[in-house]
Amino acid sequence: MSDEPLPEHVARNRTAWDSFAPKYAVLGRESWSANEITWGIYSVPEAEVGMLPESVEGLDVVELGCGTAYVSSWLARRGARPVGIDNSPAQLETARRFQQEFGVDFPLHLGNAEQTPFPDASFDLAISEYGASIWCDPYAWIPEAARILRPGGLLTFLVNGTILMLCAPDEEDAPAEDRLLRDYFGMHRFEWPDDESVEFHLGYGDMIRLLRRSGFEVEDMVEVHPAPDATTSYPFAPVEWARRWPAEEVWKARRRA
Ligand SMILES: C[S@@+](CC[C@H](N)C(=O)[O-])C[C@H]1O[C@@H](n2cnc3c(N)ncnc32)[C@H](O)[C@@H]1O
Repeated sequence: MSDEPLPEHVARNRTAWDSFAPKYAVLGRESWSANEITWGIYSVPEAEVGMLPESVEGLDVVELGCGTAYVSSWLARRGARPVGIDNSPAQLETARRFQQEFGVDFPLHLGNAEQTPFPDASFDLAISEYGASIWCDPYAWIPEAARILRPGGLLTFLVNGTILMLCAPDEEDAPAEDRLLRDYFGMHRFEWPDDESVEFHLGYGDMIRLLRRSGFEVEDMVEVHPAPDATTSYPFAPVEWARRWPAEEVWKARRRA
């Protein structure tokens, strides 16, 4: 690992995620135990959003901001060769514990997904479910994902919906409102008064231009629509809200050959 000091937002997010880790260990165990692949805060089935290629058998996969690494565990059990990278020692400690408990092993790296230790063109698939996709600066992590993907490789990531971020009050866990509370133009870095963490959310045009400039073709952007019986344990994005507006987005982009 590099001896350079961490960028300010990365250091802050390390502190924040080390403190969130015990709560995420509980959610992580549920996800490690699940047979079906579901995504995001409403557990939408893979068949509805298509985050993954039809088969992941034999693919080299990197999970950027893997947390407790349940996504990598699902992929390993389906024949892929995943590698996880995460910025939080405490989250990785949980991931290592689950690897032992569930008997699924793959490499885990402590590091910043904006500047990974992996050689150029190492992976067929780069994936992030609320990992690098919201906690890293997109102007750093997306070009880095392009660097470590092979030509023709797929980048797929899940983020909070842009409209949700515009309707979310500052107070922690306060439900999204049905009106815009902040500006769309200039969206990038988000900080919340109640905790240490820093997030990043871009508007649509900025995201499309960044992906294209980094060497990707955008293949799809799926607005997640929760099932009629969906529930969530995240009060900031109530299911009723998410039935009216997209609270989550799945982006899929292909590394140009
Ligand atoms: C919400 S978890 C994502 C994992 C899992 N999919 C989930 O939803 O629980 C977010 C993870 O991103 C990690 N993270 C934050 N900043 C990061 C960075 N700069 N590089 C790598 N990982 C980072 C955090 O440490 C945390 O484990």
